[in-house]
Amino acid sequence: MAIDAWFPLAIYYEDLPEHGQYKAVYIERIKQLRAGSGEKRTSETASWTGDVHKVDGIHNDPVFAWLTQQIERHVLLYLKTLGHDLDKIELYIQRSWPVIANKGQWVSRHAHHNANLSAVYYVSIPKEGDAGQTRFFNDKKSNELSNGIDSNMTEGYSEYNAFNYTHVNYYPTEGRLLLFPAKQPHDVLANQTDEERISISYDIIITARQNMGQATPEFLMPSPENWKKFDSRLRNTLLAGPRIDVDETPRPV
Ligand SMILES: [Fe+2]
Repeated sequence: MAIDAWFPLAIYYEDLPEHGQYKAVYIERIKQLRAGSGEKRTSETASWTGDVHKVDGIHNDPVFAWLTQQIERHVLLYLKTLGHDLDKIELYIQRSWPVIANKGQWVSRHAHHNANLSAVYYVSIPKEGDAGQTRFFNDKKSNELSNGIDSNMTEGYSEYNAFNYTHVNYYPTEGRLLLFPAKQPHDVLANQTDEERISISYDIIITARQNMGQATPEFLMPSPENWKKFDSRLRNTLLAGPRIDVDETPRPV
């Protein structure tokens, strides 16, 4: 008997040995950025996330230059391992933001649909206790032979293994960098400790290289250097004018 396991999800991680040198300065800067970010826009049980509080440019902040460089290095290694032709692509950090979770705070299920791959770096993690695991969901469920068989109503599996896991949890580890496909649904479970859990997320975009010649590959986003921004004068003129009339009367088709 043999079973082949095909099409695995690739989640990359690396423990960065120099992380201790940067911890204090990163925490201080993140606290400073948070203090200047205005009113909290999320609920009390939600972690504070910089991306919804106008703190989303960690990659342009010289204080975080070391981390940004690490991200670039490890993203290239990850893509190389995934078989990408690095000569065909250009990579951009699109957005990066800190996340702070106090006791009981979590991040609900989401995916980073505006990016291609995402990174998380754990700046500061409580020494003891469960500070909130990052949970990746198996949205493909290739081997789910009966829809919903793992639900609470059915409990159709007697064991969970690599063929039927519905999710996988990563405990946060200080100084660890995690890379994953941005489209992979995930959440972050609640911080159970009395201390803060601080991480930084990065979203990365893959585009075609500009110098590839005339033909843009169909399944790579063209280089933003070739994009054209809409004429803002035209936009302003149209926005000042009337709306298009919409006929909402139902009619047979
Ligand atoms: Fe996320």
